[in-house]
Amino acid sequence: MKHIILVTGAGKGIGKAIALEFAKKSLSLPGFEPVLILVSRTAEDLDDVAAECSACGVRTDCMVTDISDTAGAIRLADTVIARYGTIDCLVNNAGVGRFRPFREITEEDFDYTVATNMKGTFFLTQKLFAVMEEQRKGHIFFITSVAAEKAFKSSSVYCMTKFAQKGLAETLRLYAKECNVRITSVMPGAVYTPMWGEVPETVKAAMMMPEDIAVPVVGAYLLPGRTSVEELVFRPVTGDINE
Ligand SMILES: NC(=O)c1ccc[n+]([C@@H]2O[C@H](COP(=O)([O-])OP(=O)(O)OC[C@H]3O[C@@H](n4cnc5c(N)ncnc54)[C@H](OP(=O)(O)O)[C@@H]3O)[C@@H](O)[C@H]2O)c1
Repeated sequence: MKHIILVTGAGKGIGKAIALEFAKKSLSLPGFEPVLILVSRTAEDLDDVAAECSACGVRTDCMVTDISDTAGAIRLADTVIARYGTIDCLVNNAGVGRFRPFREITEEDFDYTVATNMKGTFFLTQKLFAVMEEQRKGHIFFITSVAAEKAFKSSSVYCMTKFAQKGLAETLRLYAKECNVRITSVMPGAVYTPMWGEVPETVKAAMMMPEDIAVPVVGAYLLPGRTSVEELVFRPVTGDINE
């Protein structure tokens, strides 16, 4: 059975791992045929991920989009529905962070972070949730963060947007449960991805890896439709980095 799955930020890090895990699952689950719509701002990244997914025999569709542009996010949703007529799963993973002391955050940092993590995510979700509501099925993941419920000193704007994403997930669930749609808030602590830039080996050794998050996310999607995993929280076993 075909599953139309859209992953934002699928070119790197956690989003890439989620796309690859969906693709790998198609090899071990007879009848599971994901169609992976891969979204980010960088075509080369998406082409690389698509090639890896295709090697598992999975159909992919790369859609270069900057979701911080609301019109672009809405166009993306419209294109998906025009092309496939349905959407089964939206993984709201694309996110950015500017990590600096509170007094050093500029208006540009603020606008950049809010535009992707809050505004773009909101309007893409609004458009695609309407389709899920109508068809009375679907699953939306928000890859938020442990910073969606805990403060970190260098993360003022980032924390603000992640708390907001969790707020959106919880509000949306009030609508979703009336129409059989599942909403999962995924809250990882430190995961070794390009978002962190260069990290010392000792820090890297204490971090989680993208597949540690991807495997349970795909597992939550594959549970019977009657069961909704509402929250997944992940931390390095030694606790949070950069308290
Ligand atoms: N890594 C961690 O420790 C960690 C922990 C908790 C939560 N998270 C969350 O997990 C998500 C993924 O993080 P990550 O660490 O995998 O980040 P990453 O390595 O920086 O990858 C982020 C992906 O999102 C894409 N992206 C960013 N802004 C975008 C936009 N405006 N429109 C479309 N695509 C966009 C990036 O590609 P382009 O730049 O090419 O667009 C990239 O493919 C984020 O929401 C992050 O906040 C990460």
